[in-house]
Amino acid sequence: GADALQHRFEQVVESEQRIEPRDWMPDGYRATLIRQIAQHAHSEIIGMQPEGNWLTRAPSLRRKAILLAKVQDEAGHGLYLYSAAETLGVDRAELTEKLISGRQKYSSIFNYPTLTFADVGVIGWLVDGAAICNQVPLCRCSYGPYARAMVRICKEESFHQRQGYELLMTLSRGTESQRRMLQDAVDRWWWPSLMMFGPPDADSPNTAQSMAWRIKRHTNDELRQRFVDMTVPQAERLGVTLPDPDLEWNEERGHHDFGEPDWEELGRVIRGQGPCNAERIDRRRSAHQEGAWVREAAAAHAAKQASRART
Ligand code: ACO
Repeated sequence: GADALQHRFEQVVESEQRIEPRDWMPDGYRATLIRQIAQHAHSEIIGMQPEGNWLTRAPSLRRKAILLAKVQDEAGHGLYLYSAAETLGVDRAELTEKLISGRQKYSSIFNYPTLTFADVGVIGWLVDGAAICNQVPLCRCSYGPYARAMVRICKEESFHQRQGYELLMTLSRGTESQRRMLQDAVDRWWWPSLMMFGPPDADSPNTAQSMAWRIKRHTNDELRQRFVDMTVPQAERLGVTLPDPDLEWNEERGHHDFGEPDWEELGRVIRGQGPCNAERIDRRRSAHQEGAWVREAAAAHAAKQASRART
């Protein structure tokens, strides 16, 4: 009966095995995964825009080829993630509809503008760096299809992060104005990167249940701390200053202390009032409308193939 199913589910989760699409799962577990995976997929797709804006203005053919490949990888990540969500009984068209009508979220970070080419490097270094911190533990998520998608995504993300760092190393060895451009980009992206990890634990309604289900393996604050500790020595090697006067090594804790992000700002950006929210959604909506003929043609082709197979 129901108790036996619930018991089996709990045993699988506790023994670090994976829940698979055909297994019984609590409704709340399914809904949480759909929410998180859809939001994650939307972030990858919307995340193509801020960097994509620089494709036509990359400073060299080499930089352009690298950026093009990176943005294409993000499209790929979005597609694996939509596929993982589909194993839970939703479809991609429905999720896209929810994104463009504002009923599903995507990461706050992609609502900030990319003002110079240094932003491309800083997104690779800080934003992809934060994404890796958050996503490596998701490779051990209790839901099989999400965990497996994360393995490949993390490999590609770590390549993206090195790509960004290499770009910034090049700027740091450049002219005085290139070094200023680098520092300016770091100043603008540092705090939004810390906000990517979500609200502080005390204000995170989903963390406790998601940890009990082993969807999340660490709290938002634990991952934020890990990111700060990882990034400080990298900033030193780049010769940039992280814009936080309270950032300091704490010998006793064995971690860096750091200042409080502006949680009001995170709240506004999540509610749709960030600097680029409207522009990002408009762009996504028009891309979806402009792609309608492709979807119609693919469906007509599939129908024709199916009717040929029947005769
Ligand atoms: N941007 C937008 N929304 C956010 C953010 C953020 N940075 N942080 C938290 N939220 C939302 C949550 O989705 C939740 O809203 P909902 O209940 O309506 O869905 C609400 O704020 C409260 O937050 P939490 O209770 O902490 O939510 P959750 O347990 O889902 O933790 C987190 C948030 C850490 C982002 C988690 O969902 C996660 O790990 N997701 C997978 C990774 C991901 O989506 N990365 C996207 C950016 S990385 C990239 O694409 C390169």
